[in-house]
Amino acid sequence: MALAQETKRITAQFEYTDEDVNTGVQEFLRQMNEGLQKDGTSMSQIPTYVTGVPNGTEKGLYLAVDLGGTNFRVCSIHLNGDTTFNLTYSKVAIPKELMTAKTAQELFAFLAKQIELFLKTHHEEHFEAHTQRRQTISTPDGFADEHLFRLGFTFSFPVQQFGINKGTLIRWTKGFDIPDAIGKDVCALLQDEIEKLHLPVKVAALVNDTVGTLMARSYTSPGNTSTLLGAIFGTGTNGAYVEKVTNILKPVEGQYDKSTGNMVINTEWGSFDNQLNVLPNTSYDIELDKMSVNPGIQMFEKRVSGMFLGEIVRLVIVDMLKNPNISLFRDENSSFNDWQSTTTIGGDSTIMRQWGLDSSIMSIAAADNTPEFSTLRQQLESQLHIYAASSEDAQAFKNVAYAVGRRAARLSAVAIGAIVLQSGLLSDGTDEPIDIGVDGSLVEHYPYFRDMIHEALSAIKGIGSEGTKRIRIGIAKDGSGVGAALIALVAAGMEKHNTV
Ligand code: GLC
Repeated sequence: MALAQETKRITAQFEYTDEDVNTGVQEFLRQMNEGLQKDGTSMSQIPTYVTGVPNGTEKGLYLAVDLGGTNFRVCSIHLNGDTTFNLTYSKVAIPKELMTAKTAQELFAFLAKQIELFLKTHHEEHFEAHTQRRQTISTPDGFADEHLFRLGFTFSFPVQQFGINKGTLIRWTKGFDIPDAIGKDVCALLQDEIEKLHLPVKVAALVNDTVGTLMARSYTSPGNTSTLLGAIFGTGTNGAYVEKVTNILKPVEGQYDKSTGNMVINTEWGSFDNQLNVLPNTSYDIELDKMSVNPGIQMFEKRVSGMFLGEIVRLVIVDMLKNPNISLFRDENSSFNDWQSTTTIGGDSTIMRQWGLDSSIMSIAAADNTPEFSTLRQQLESQLHIYAASSEDAQAFKNVAYAVGRRAARLSAVAIGAIVLQSGLLSDGTDEPIDIGVDGSLVEHYPYFRDMIHEALSAIKGIGSEGTKRIRIGIAKDGSGVGAALIALVAAGMEKHNTV
């Protein structure tokens, strides 16, 4: 059978129809509300102790660090109070061995060291004076010192929060695996290492990247509209939204500001439907999960986020290569007859290895609309050592990548749509935009990802095309850094009023 037809047969497994989207939304709403009632459900629905979103007038200089993907970022943020900010940052790749270190201390010592380097490089003037001052203050009361840097800690893993700067790690995700850290307070782990280096820094707020994105978007969003949802579609995927406190039926211990009647909830939607009631489940999804470090967990994330999409595409391509009836990347001149030697794939290609296909090539495939696919073919060669691909081969690769990407976008719409419905904003009698801040490599670099989300949103009962027009999805660039600074600011206010 012709390659195009075979590809069509395989990609059909990734179709996620309007009906599927609607079934997904109903189940998402059910699991969201279940998570608001009790602990231990698949979507954790974690109360964050953040009770309001900023309006753009906030001011001050804060530090923020961000751990949660492949890089560790340290930044200082100057909030100018007029919806703008200035940001200085440095970024280092997290050494692979630290992602699976024996002890949590090894990882956190590395993080504190990066903070020290950053302060020395970018804030030397403060650093010396602060450090000297700090050495004379050894009691916890020293934290009230105006000269300390307040730091917002963006830690993008599921954490059970007990206060604005207290929280214990529930589980690792995205390839991290340090069992020693589970159940420990990650703020205390970082503060301890900061103390060892005598840095003039107080970990003032613990923030998930989605909460940071929500805050940052709300600070910068056009027209002073407050934002409903902050979402990440990057290495992992997750969302945090503003919920009415009266809907949070499980106990929320500890102090928080009750005046707004709202609290930001970190959904941890990466674990939506771990039980697979409604999620699509092809043989490729099953294989990916089986080979992962956390089988049975983060099942939504494994179908949506950048860390996994490339791997799904890889599994499909390998399956096609192994099928003698499918003529993909074939070397017509080969006289061998085992499947591997009859392809144009170099012996050193990573395509046969787990994680061997980086999701970024999917964006290149989606963006290449030339008849010959010259850019895509070049990338197949340079990234994957697949030589002399024909344009039919490139088209097949593009179609596979598109099918996997489109399913991910439509699943993303399930999460976004359910949260819009949960908020009740569509029936508030206005035509104000419903603002959503997003960040992450998929929404930033994958062409048409947001368009595909919008298309699926309009198919959702209760939203439709009219409702979709009100849903405004905007990028919150550097969201987690700015957001962490904003929450550190809120925390500083709470300190003053002795509520922390
Ligand atoms: C994973 C983490 C979550 C984070 C998301 C995006 O799903 O569990 O906390 O927000 O990745 O980085």
